[in-house]
Amino acid sequence: MPSRNGYTRRRFIRTAGIAAGGALLSGLPAGSLAGVPGANEFLRLGWVGVGGRGSSLLRHALNLVSVSTLQVAAICDIDAAARQRAVAACGAMKPAGIQDYRELLERKDVDAVIIATPIHLHAEHAVAVMKAGKHCYCEKPLGRTPQEVKAVHEAVKAAGKKFQVGFQWRYHNGFLALVDAVQGGAVGKVHFVTAARHVGGYPTSGWYVDRSLSGDLIVEQAVHEMNIFCWMLKAHPLRAAGFGGINALKDVPPGRTIMDHYGVTYEFPEGIDLQYSHCVYTPSGFGGLHQTVYGSDGRGVSLEDTTRLSLTKDGKKTTTQIPLPPDQDATEAALQSFAQSIREDKEPLANVDAGRNATLMAILGRTAIHERRVAEWREMEV
Ligand SMILES: NC(=O)c1ccc[n+]([C@@H]2O[C@H](COP(=O)([O-])OP(=O)(O)OC[C@H]3O[C@@H](n4cnc5c(N)ncnc54)[C@H](O)[C@@H]3O)[C@@H](O)[C@H]2O)c1
Repeated sequence: MPSRNGYTRRRFIRTAGIAAGGALLSGLPAGSLAGVPGANEFLRLGWVGVGGRGSSLLRHALNLVSVSTLQVAAICDIDAAARQRAVAACGAMKPAGIQDYRELLERKDVDAVIIATPIHLHAEHAVAVMKAGKHCYCEKPLGRTPQEVKAVHEAVKAAGKKFQVGFQWRYHNGFLALVDAVQGGAVGKVHFVTAARHVGGYPTSGWYVDRSLSGDLIVEQAVHEMNIFCWMLKAHPLRAAGFGGINALKDVPPGRTIMDHYGVTYEFPEGIDLQYSHCVYTPSGFGGLHQTVYGSDGRGVSLEDTTRLSLTKDGKKTTTQIPLPPDQDATEAALQSFAQSIREDKEPLANVDAGRNATLMAILGRTAIHERRVAEWREMEV
């Protein structure tokens, strides 16, 4: 399906050249093959953080090596075992294994850096990548506080390098269909949005469960939805109110400080209200994700579990299963798009402005919930 992100696998093969990746895998210098782009046309990537998400991003990038001119040049992680596993996964490419990210940033053979460290380090790492003059794919969110978000935003604007946030849903056919429907007028004027993420699992250890490190559940996880809302409505909210806490998972693990559920309401411009609820102890069979938009004249659109899009008009409901190409994953599409943005000097779709709005929307909701009051967007603009 030709998607609005414009990066189907077929197109990428055509534009990037499969022979170049083959040369890399076999260890031959790419420029030594006739008709293959010179070595300096390879996009040389460095990783900072190869835990759960960083390893997954690496696997996706390695999948793309066979169809594009990507190369993994360096892997940094403070955990030696994680670092060695990631280096080994790259086989003949033999990236440098590095403990201190500053050493990675000094390397001339790294063009772009993938940041997948815990959230309390995002601002430090993203600002340093920008100051080093390299492109950056940074996992979400931009930071835990408005100050951290501002620091990253300013550094990206000053550096003029490509900066993409790890919002792979921006490249996902289900969400592209939802946003196309709403922005294309399928529900007329948008009046009300409801959305939920009711799941039965979430990490119960490490930095994830410490809200001073993760920013709390809403900032760590729901920032994905916040990105969809700001993108779909072409706006950020003006204020928020909500409640939440820890009910079912007290002391799971001992000392847990992140919420296990909450509900939050946002007011957007033009009187659009949006309600979102999030629960991570949902019993099996009750859960799911949905985003539902109610518009004028009894019309509505709903995306369920990221793939089933229903439209209601004149009392009739139609549901479409959104095709997800079998060889295409949203994260892979996001990485392809990042590479293409650099090569073609184009602004990434999930750019730093999207990262700023979504992260601040999540922090706004968190402020309202933690402080049990109406929180205003202007408080986020530090
Ligand atoms: N886009 C998504 O769908 C998605 C999914 C999961 C996680 N994430 C995000 O990815 C990020 C990482 O999450 P994770 O689950 O991989 O966490 P993790 O704890 O599994 O991995 C983090 C890694 O960073 C390393 N690290 C810590 N400090 C470092 C430093 N100073 N220098 C280099 N490496 C360092 C750790 O040793 C670890 O290997 C978070 O921002 C998380 O929110 C995104």
